[in-house]
Amino acid sequence: MPASPFSWLDEEARRRHRDGLVRTLRPRPAASDLLDLAGNDYLGLARHPEVTSAAAAAAREWGGGATGSRLVTGSTRLHAELEGELAAFCGFEAALVLSSGYAANLAAVTALAPHGTLVVSDAGNHASLIDGCRLARGTTQVVPHADPQAVRKALGTRAGPAVAVSDTVFSVDGDAAPLAGLAAACRAYGAGLVLDDAHGLGVLGAGGRGAPHAAGLAGASDVVATVTLSKSLGSQGGAVLGPARVIDHLVNTARTFIFDTGLAPAAAGAALAALRLLRREPGRAGRVRAVAAALHAGLTAEGLEAVRPDAAVVSVRAASPERAVRWAADCRAAGVAVGCFRPPSVPDGVSRLRLTARADLTDAQVDRAVRVVSAARR
Ligand SMILES: Cc1ncc(COP(=O)(O)O)c(C=O)c1O
Repeated sequence: MPASPFSWLDEEARRRHRDGLVRTLRPRPAASDLLDLAGNDYLGLARHPEVTSAAAAAAREWGGGATGSRLVTGSTRLHAELEGELAAFCGFEAALVLSSGYAANLAAVTALAPHGTLVVSDAGNHASLIDGCRLARGTTQVVPHADPQAVRKALGTRAGPAVAVSDTVFSVDGDAAPLAGLAAACRAYGAGLVLDDAHGLGVLGAGGRGAPHAAGLAGASDVVATVTLSKSLGSQGGAVLGPARVIDHLVNTARTFIFDTGLAPAAAGAALAALRLLRREPGRAGRVRAVAAALHAGLTAEGLEAVRPDAAVVSVRAASPERAVRWAADCRAAGVAVGCFRPPSVPDGVSRLRLTARADLTDAQVDRAVRVVSAARR
């Protein structure tokens, strides 16, 4: 038998083992006593009865799947309502729902950066924005993290159309982008600004309207935002928000919209119910920020190196990938689930524990989490 064309994968697997970078799947039980600081259910809505009932009702009414792409049979009344209410809530003219935040970022960047466009991308951007840049026909220039001056410099290198792309809250360290500075840089050069508000929606801005709204950028003719429905809204899916002409362009050209099955009705129904809940209970956004601040204060008081959170993500540095994995496992054994970020998920090569605040955590649970994470480090 000839050698397998995939035998080189064995060396890759050995390298991963050597470097402490093996990833494994661990199905979670439906019910557990673990205190969850690893998921992204920031507002505690994923299991809210109104959200789960809406998902079930949508599946019963419309079926288990969307049955086709949005332009063929995959658009339901729920998709249209969700688009209208999301755009209104976040302060944008129009919205387009896609099957994930990942697909939304690919759609926004590729459709807005055709051949001849300069794309200026923050070095700390999420993988989905990076992949959008890779797929776009324009030319990408990566600039140092959270540095509007570097964006200005990059935009100044070329005449012609340009867009800058940035997370609003960076997923690894939970720090916020300097949105006012980025917008000023873009406006000085007539460039568009694409903001991934995956971690801002539901957490930042008045009642959780998101980072662009908080920065006074929502609804501007030169600003486009993307969101995921899978974090604060406790569902699944993504959306692009922006001027109607941008949304119309995406409907007609964005490949991850046109050639992808529409978001499942259950997910659209769940996200819609969560959005309505958030509108009714705006205090959830403030609560998740307070929980994040309390986690950070507790961890730093214990001598841990934690980044001050600008939203719900609290990042704690670990000495090595192996130590991070061990630390997270010890936390889990003591009853607290935390995330563990290692290369290649972290561009700077520094491994971290990643704790996510939730609006439904009690003060006692926050104290317990701090005690467990701190004790497990030793
Ligand atoms: C900043 C950021 N953008 C985009 C995404 C992708 O969203 P989705 O999970 O809905 O594909 C994520 C995480 O999942 C994220 O953290």
